[in-house]
Amino acid sequence: MPRDKSKNKPQNAKPQNAKPPNAKPPNVKPQNGATMARQNGPAPDRNNSDFSPRLKASWDDNAQLWTAAVREKKIASRVSCTDQAIVAAALTLIKERAQQSTSVLDLGCGEGWLARRLSAEPDCVVTGIDGSADLIVSARQLDPVSSYLHLGYDEIIRAPARAGGPYDLVICNFALLGEEITPLLSALRQCVVAQGKLVIQTLHPWQACPESGYADDWQEESFAAFSAGNRAGNQAGNQAGNWTSMPWYFRTLATWIREIGQAGFAVASCAEPINPQSGKPGSLLLICGA
Ligand SMILES: C[S@@+](CC[C@H](N)C(=O)[O-])C[C@H]1O[C@@H](n2cnc3c(N)ncnc32)[C@H](O)[C@@H]1O
Repeated sequence: MPRDKSKNKPQNAKPQNAKPPNAKPPNVKPQNGATMARQNGPAPDRNNSDFSPRLKASWDDNAQLWTAAVREKKIASRVSCTDQAIVAAALTLIKERAQQSTSVLDLGCGEGWLARRLSAEPDCVVTGIDGSADLIVSARQLDPVSSYLHLGYDEIIRAPARAGGPYDLVICNFALLGEEITPLLSALRQCVVAQGKLVIQTLHPWQACPESGYADDWQEESFAAFSAGNRAGNQAGNQAGNWTSMPWYFRTLATWIREIGQAGFAVASCAEPINPQSGKPGSLLLICGA
């Protein structure tokens, strides 16, 4: 059953796109945090209810900075916790296949670090997909062997075959950032083999819980932690340093599980990798069966 999206909208919500789609949210206040979306600003201006275009556009703007942040290992929580967690989860599933060749889709691959890591495994054939043309160029530069496709999630929803496959394993590493994930996951369901797996690593909902409360809603990532040493402050209202802020959608654990189920996958197990720096969960890992 489709989720009732209206329940998390403000009482005085205006019709969708009542404001220009690129309207800047007011008062973005960067807070503590070392990784994407660990430093939540307040929710964006919710009178504008479609943040998807701005979410996607932020990755075009941030492509160079993001590539540098990942490759120069500037994101502490990734280095100490979450990179290792997603690689271990993927390798476990690949090894369970007992030397059969494994086709992997790294959805929202960014500059491609995970695709490169997995393509180094024997008999692992990796495809990376991302909506940012510049990130796809960066990924191809370091890995001429794997396939990298410049595709938006909206295009996959419209025509799942464009994502290729069928895949044995689909991985979304901090790459499901929008509100409408059920249609995307449903499309991906058509791109996996019968016994295929979907692995999602995302912010742990209890660690990323907004100050406004534990409820599904749009949030704003300022990337302030990445811009330390760059231009201080928030002069344009939507930028920290040279980063363009990004709207992203917070969902509770129950919503994650419900949406995955609605898309035709089932959560088989979950893990909460502990960040040794904080002693708290660095992420939520959901291992799902098709
Ligand atoms: C936080 S980055 C993670 C990148 C990569 N998975 C990693 O672990 O470094 C999120 C990625 O999702 C991609 N993305 C987000 N929304 C997208 C959309 N609607 N269509 C295509 N790509 C999208 C962005 O371009 C970005 O590269």
